[in-house]
Amino acid sequence: MDQTTMPLYRVLDRFKNKKPVSFHVPGHKNGLLMQPLPGEGLSFLQYDLTELDGLDDLHHPEGAIKEAQELLSAYYGSTKSYFLVNGSTVGNLAAILAVCRPGDRVLVDRNCHKSVLHGLQLAKARPVFLFPEIDGELGLAGGFKETEIEQAFHAYPDIKACILTYPTYYGMVYDLQPIIEMAHRHHCLVVIDEAHGPHFHIGAPFPASAMDLGADAVVHSAHKMLPALTMGSFLHIKNAQFPIDRLEYYLSVLQTSSPSYLIMMSLDYARWYAANFNAEDIRYTMSQRKFLISRLKEIKGLEVLERGDQDPLKLLVSCPGVSGFDLQSAFEHAGVYPEMADLNFAVLVLPLLKEGMAFPYSEASDRINRALKQDFPKRKVRKAPVYFSGGVAGLSLSYEEMEERPVEWVSFGAAADRIAAKTVTPYPPGVPLLMPGERITASHIERIKSLRAYGAKFQADAHFKHEQLAVYL
Ligand SMILES: Cc1ncc(COP(=O)(O)O)c(C=O)c1O
Repeated sequence: MDQTTMPLYRVLDRFKNKKPVSFHVPGHKNGLLMQPLPGEGLSFLQYDLTELDGLDDLHHPEGAIKEAQELLSAYYGSTKSYFLVNGSTVGNLAAILAVCRPGDRVLVDRNCHKSVLHGLQLAKARPVFLFPEIDGELGLAGGFKETEIEQAFHAYPDIKACILTYPTYYGMVYDLQPIIEMAHRHHCLVVIDEAHGPHFHIGAPFPASAMDLGADAVVHSAHKMLPALTMGSFLHIKNAQFPIDRLEYYLSVLQTSSPSYLIMMSLDYARWYAANFNAEDIRYTMSQRKFLISRLKEIKGLEVLERGDQDPLKLLVSCPGVSGFDLQSAFEHAGVYPEMADLNFAVLVLPLLKEGMAFPYSEASDRINRALKQDFPKRKVRKAPVYFSGGVAGLSLSYEEMEERPVEWVSFGAAADRIAAKTVTPYPPGVPLLMPGERITASHIERIKSLRAYGAKFQADAHFKHEQLAVYL
């Protein structure tokens, strides 16, 4: 191995020199929204410090970090708020471990990020999955039927906690408040993974925040939608009855003992940014968005999805009949990088712009226009099977049983009706298509094949390439 090379530095540097336009996370948009910060290039590193005298300690905050977290808590109206240096992942893990003891029954959104599943597995909880409704035409997951949730509470009166994702990766929202109220009537604590909604608390036209809808714990990926460094997230507790001692214990166990001051500094900045985002800034952000949409709509063949039940900072664009993956590639060839794609859409994450901030919307739409005029690979989309829509179901095996069971690898063809032993996750969005303990159906396999045929990226074991899945014996 050549120890004189720095491969990661090399690719990052090359990428930066291409002057890419960012429509993806993190929210600081290649630093564009962070220009008022140090602004002197590498002098940024002067802020990469440690627990020196006067610099406080994330794991025992008494000074500047305590003050910054208190400002965060005051802004979001929480009982207590925390800076997280390992993303919403650690927020979900710690919140779940705090509220669940082994064997506890938990109601969980099936459309959840893998970190939620990992939390449940570590806690040895007994999940009851709530399957959101899927819009059959667009293939987008939305909210839940309240009657199904009520039925779940009757079928399982011992449910201790409820963990939901709001909004989805695509920015879709649903009527969360009645669900939270129902869970509270059943004496459940409600944890909301609002990773994609830290800006909701700014107010209209952004959807209502779970912080304002009665949730007991809310996790925010500040780095996704606010100008913060990657991994910078928030965790808010909004109920004095929440087991805060357990939560703080798990945060201290799961987070590094050397938290990055750059990340923490960016979290202080992100809080400041959101808290000082005023009516003119909102108007400006929305007018710039409108400008982008109007330019995109002028491009032949390109469609922009506009819906009322969606975060305005998530823009779903499509070329009817062409896969979202192909559209994403065409954009990328033109130097415009979407956050993700699926069979139907490329997903753009728009910036929260303060009044007067320049963002290259015009350049981006010109590039997209040029790219789509050229011939690019266009694979027709066949409708992929929806592998769930509505309903409630537990796992076929408990986490304890799974630990004991041997595993074998079988071909895709032989996997239907067996119990999955490993997670299969298209990434992004990081929502497992199959999870351990779940019974595999023909629709799962069809969907996996479909996504693979269009070049979706998967986080899955190497065997997956040989069209094999791990199942329990
Ligand atoms: C809904 C949701 N929750 C949690 C996470 C994990 O967030 P982080 O990357 O901040 O750890 C993600 C990441 O994509 C996500 O989409």
